[in-house]
Amino acid sequence: MKHLLKMSDLSREEIISLLNLADQLKYEQKHGITHHRLAGQTLGMIFQKSSTRTRVSFEAGMYQLGGSAMFLSSRDLQIGRGEPVQDTARVLSRYLDGIMIRTFAQQEVEDLARYGSIPVINGLTDYCHPCQILADLLTIREYKGAFEGLKFCYIGDGNNMANSHIVGALTVGMKVSIACPKGYHPHPDVLKFAESYGDQFQLSDQVLEMAAGADVVATDVWASMGQEDEAAQRAAAFAGFQVNDAVMEAANPGAMVLHCLPAHREEEITEKVFEAHADEIFDEAENRLHAQKAVMVRLMQK
Ligand code: CP
Ligand code: NVA
Repeated sequence: MKHLLKMSDLSREEIISLLNLADQLKYEQKHGITHHRLAGQTLGMIFQKSSTRTRVSFEAGMYQLGGSAMFLSSRDLQIGRGEPVQDTARVLSRYLDGIMIRTFAQQEVEDLARYGSIPVINGLTDYCHPCQILADLLTIREYKGAFEGLKFCYIGDGNNMANSHIVGALTVGMKVSIACPKGYHPHPDVLKFAESYGDQFQLSDQVLEMAAGADVVATDVWASMGQEDEAAQRAAAFAGFQVNDAVMEAANPGAMVLHCLPAHREEEITEKVFEAHADEIFDEAENRLHAQKAVMVRLMQK
């Protein structure tokens, strides 16, 4: 494993091994055990989009591992004035030990990895959000003990989160059902990946049918970063695609709810369901820290 560019870069074994390392790092942090596995190393963090969790968890995680993290806004970098990613990658590789990037096009992340010589971590693109999925899988395993036999249901936009959830959940052995309106389906590459899982995967616009018997229910905003001008049109298209009491009644008793955050209450999830499952959702947010520390150690430890 040289980079983390998308979920399908990881085999089941690699995911489980990362989750085990995340558990270990979480234990060490909670028990005050110093774990400077990346002492003296520097992570550059390029942000072309806003962030609370990704920025803070990577930066804090890097400090906890004995290294340092550098926030690089595209507003300030020459990349924002047109310096090619090929050159940026080669320059940053001379200074840093790893790069985390949040941007729009997946190709930019792939190019950074291709032209640079240090590990690259995808901190969200329009296509996927692998760091979030590792945190989500860590949270599911904490609550449910194992993945086998579980049904994972995602309701809403077939966006970066949906794409990564599908790949991650199928890879670790869960059944996956996706409820999306027509015209907002997940990426064709992801649907092709899911095809090979046969009846382990379902996609439909029938929300309650997809939610039936689910052990994990997940959702995300209806308009992602960069789609703000489509918000009204999207609100109409997604009107029936809300995680609410009816969905939770269709799901298994004891089903957990995940949301990558930020959440828009009364849009993709009701306030009531959100608050009833706040423990899971904020454990999920915390687990970004532990999962990403595992990714950094795996990729950067010399
Ligand atoms: N879930 C997530 O990636 O949050 P931020 O956008 O705050 O980083
Ligand atoms: N789908 C959302 C996820 C935010 C973490 C977005 O891309 O804005």
